[in-house]
Amino acid sequence: MKTLILFSTRDGQTREIASYIASELKELGVESDVVNLHRNGNIGWDNYDRVVIGASIRYGHFHASVDTFVKKHQQALSSIPSAFFSVNLVARKAEKRSPQTNSYTRKFLLNSPWQPDRCAVFAGALRYPRYGWLDRAMIRLIMKMTGGETDTSKEVVYTDWQQVARFAHEVAQLSAR
Ligand SMILES: Cc1cc2nc3c(=O)[nH]c(=O)nc-3n(C[C@H](O)[C@H](O)[C@H](O)COP(=O)(O)O)c2cc1C
Repeated sequence: MKTLILFSTRDGQTREIASYIASELKELGVESDVVNLHRNGNIGWDNYDRVVIGASIRYGHFHASVDTFVKKHQQALSSIPSAFFSVNLVARKAEKRSPQTNSYTRKFLLNSPWQPDRCAVFAGALRYPRYGWLDRAMIRLIMKMTGGETDTSKEVVYTDWQQVARFAHEVAQLSAR
């Protein structure tokens, strides 16, 4: 049996975090599959004894596919130990990095028919050179308003990898229902 780690990403940071969780799990003797939630066909739920979903925020929202996926697979998700993590830039501030204090995550959990056993919020990455001009200008404006990095030549990774490792340990400890 393996752990299924599904990710929803736009610019790749959530995939990197998902892969990091997989490598931490491997060190703990837990095998996993890392799968793009947007490209999944049929999931062989019988192969998995745990599931993790990770998703990033863009302009205040997770990708619509995350909700669709959760609704479609609600029964399977709720029948095995599960965890959720969200990735966003508000979480670069430590006080906005918990499921209770991160408004995107709190809202998701309030409205989700699936209630994961564990939940974490990770700070994402700011990669100005990779954005189109409009996104770059919008993100720069938000950063200016919130006291963040405004140098558009920069790429900054805010993810706290030790926090991700701790989460992976929590996932490894989730026991069968
Ligand atoms: C166009 C755009 C819009 C974003 N909107 C938000 C936002 O509303 N709130 C936030 O906290 N972070 C926002 N972010 C930051 C992303 O959540 C962050 O860059 C994250 O690492 C993206 O993860 P991904 O690469 O897996 O998509 C935005 C980033 C971009 C490029």
